[in-house]
Amino acid sequence: MSKYILEAVDLIRQYKQYDSVVTAVNHVSLKVEDGEFLAIMGTSGSGKSTLLNLLAGLDRPNFGSVTIRGTDITKLSADKLSRFRGEFTGVVFQKHNLVPQLTALENILVPTIMCNKPDHQYQETLKKLILSLKIGNRLGHLPSELSGGQQQRVAIARALINRPQVLFADEPTGNLDRKNADEVLELLLETRKMMGMTMIMVTHDMTIADKADKIYMMDDGKLYLYKDKQGYYKNTYEVQLQAEQEKNAPKAREPWQG
Ligand SMILES: Nc1ncnc2c1ncn2[C@@H]1O[C@H](COP(=O)(O)OP(=O)(O)OP(=O)(O)O)[C@@H](O)[C@H]1O
Ligand SMILES: [Mg+2]
Repeated sequence: MSKYILEAVDLIRQYKQYDSVVTAVNHVSLKVEDGEFLAIMGTSGSGKSTLLNLLAGLDRPNFGSVTIRGTDITKLSADKLSRFRGEFTGVVFQKHNLVPQLTALENILVPTIMCNKPDHQYQETLKKLILSLKIGNRLGHLPSELSGGQQQRVAIARALINRPQVLFADEPTGNLDRKNADEVLELLLETRKMMGMTMIMVTHDMTIADKADKIYMMDDGKLYLYKDKQGYYKNTYEVQLQAEQEKNAPKAREPWQG
């Protein structure tokens, strides 16, 4: 099996709008190693959410493939895909999407209904999540009775209860104020480490992205590596400029041409 837990090859996602076509994701390839924390940044409308949805199997590309743990999820039937997602992936969005009629605990346990794992496995994970996300005294409350930060911590617990191998997060702290965002993020990072999962997170926040193993930038549907463990790469503007200059540069003269 490949050493990559997730491998996307040449993804394209286009939207038709009236008689024009928007290419939200334009020939994007990506390899993610097991256990990596990867941040995706970029301006509004650059295609971050579209890409994340493709990687998470919430949307299908027009072209290209997404392979998670050796399974090409773009080829799975809707039924199989939803089972695969339930077992191997978790998602956290900017808006928590908790079920308003269910208590915090019931919300956390929703994903366990779809998977047939023995009960004691959830109980153990649940205990760990409650402790590390600090939501023990809020389990009987409805979402409307929780603060924004608490709601988001419950949503994170729900995303992690099945112990997914890959967690996808789209601006998970985007709706929170600085203090709450920092706290929720810290808890998320700690919990991720404890459970040893791979995480791909879209964020506008450089201080968050700086904690990632790698930062990618999205620009007009294209994905560029911006920083890895070795340090910063050129920003996308410089990368584009360089490509432009290389294209326009006069061909180097061969030595014998003088
Ligand atoms: N369902 C859709 N139908 C048509 N166009 C869409 C749809 N979803 C996204 N787009 C377009 O695709 C492009 C990328 O959108 P996307 O939501 O991925 O951007 P983003 O980088 O996540 O932006 P933001 O930071 O504002 O969340 C935009 O031009 C957007 O208008
Ligand atoms: Mg978005």
